[in-house]
Amino acid sequence: MEDVKAAVKDIFPRVKELRRDFHAHPELGFQEVRTSKIIAEVLEGLGIQVKKGLAKTGVVGLLDSGKPGPTVALRADIDALPVKDAKKVDYASKVEGVCHACGHDGHTAILLGAAMLLSSMKDKFSGKVKFIFQPCEEQIPGGAKPLIEEGVLEDPKVDNIFGLHLWTNYPIGTVGLKSGPLMAAADAFEIEIIGKGGHGSAPHEAVDAVVVASQVVMALQTIVSRSVAPLEPAVVSVGMLKAGYNFNVIADRATVCGTVRTYSEVVRSLIEGRIEEIVKGISAAYGADYRFEYSRGYPAVITDERVTEYARQVAAEVVGAQNVIEAVPVMGGEDFAYYLQRVPGTFAFVGARNEEKGIDKPHHHPEFDIDENALAVGVELMVRYVLENERLKI
Ligand code: NI
Repeated sequence: MEDVKAAVKDIFPRVKELRRDFHAHPELGFQEVRTSKIIAEVLEGLGIQVKKGLAKTGVVGLLDSGKPGPTVALRADIDALPVKDAKKVDYASKVEGVCHACGHDGHTAILLGAAMLLSSMKDKFSGKVKFIFQPCEEQIPGGAKPLIEEGVLEDPKVDNIFGLHLWTNYPIGTVGLKSGPLMAAADAFEIEIIGKGGHGSAPHEAVDAVVVASQVVMALQTIVSRSVAPLEPAVVSVGMLKAGYNFNVIADRATVCGTVRTYSEVVRSLIEGRIEEIVKGISAAYGADYRFEYSRGYPAVITDERVTEYARQVAAEVVGAQNVIEAVPVMGGEDFAYYLQRVPGTFAFVGARNEEKGIDKPHHHPEFDIDENALAVGVELMVRYVLENERLKI
């Protein structure tokens, strides 16, 4: 299958050019009008059936090999971030305050590259390929959920789904995969303690919101240590505590905000419930009232074991078995999680760091960039997922 590598090499300049064009013209979530237009034009030019305007700015292409077989979905997120581009390169963002600082420009170009190759290789696979260009990954509630609600995984029904993220945590030439929990569910909570204000010298006449909030913050620390099973990963962090007016005034209000990171839905619900029980109990004990809000972000990314094993074999052909690494789970979120709740699939971290070229910035950094050779790895991976799907035995 060395011909796949050669084919990727042939289209690489075009993929790079597309990536740089998207990079220079970034668009925020659900506003990816120009990006979507280009995606649709490229797909239509390849003779791929295209649906536009899904979940506002999403584009979905369907390629039929003409032979019966599985439907494999390949997904790219296409949105940029509200970050000021600080790079000194000729493809730097031309849009003030907006930047592809997470590499989604590369994801889009990679999937277009895969579409270019697969549309010319219809004799080399069976079944169908669905190319999902998803808007708005960066902001909750994200584009994946509405796309699914609009039927992106149906007609034809998707059997397996593959996604990837260019990853500057890993060096160029590596691919990270892991079965099971890969990225966390990321939630937010806000607690308001409602006490009774008063003079600092007469605490018996007040209900001190500072004292109640302090008890709440300390008690929240016991959720992970005392209520969650020791082998379950979970984080409860209070990131903000606000109260008070002056040194001699007893505060009537206090606000406690934080985040919860989990990998299991059971643990997630348990923590949500425990936070409120603690707030309710402590407030009652001190004669205070409270307001509690819990906002669920994306669920955890849980990859399918069998599909991930298949992806490992495919990735080994792309970068060599020694460069397929066991991905380290991260506590960041990804709305690819919603697809994985419905369809077995996997998500790859494609190494994009290259210190020699000075490409070593973390994601969302104003100088974030990728080693563009990672685009070739991404294209080859996506193409081979489809070409070798017989081995997946869906
Ligand atoms: Ni991202």
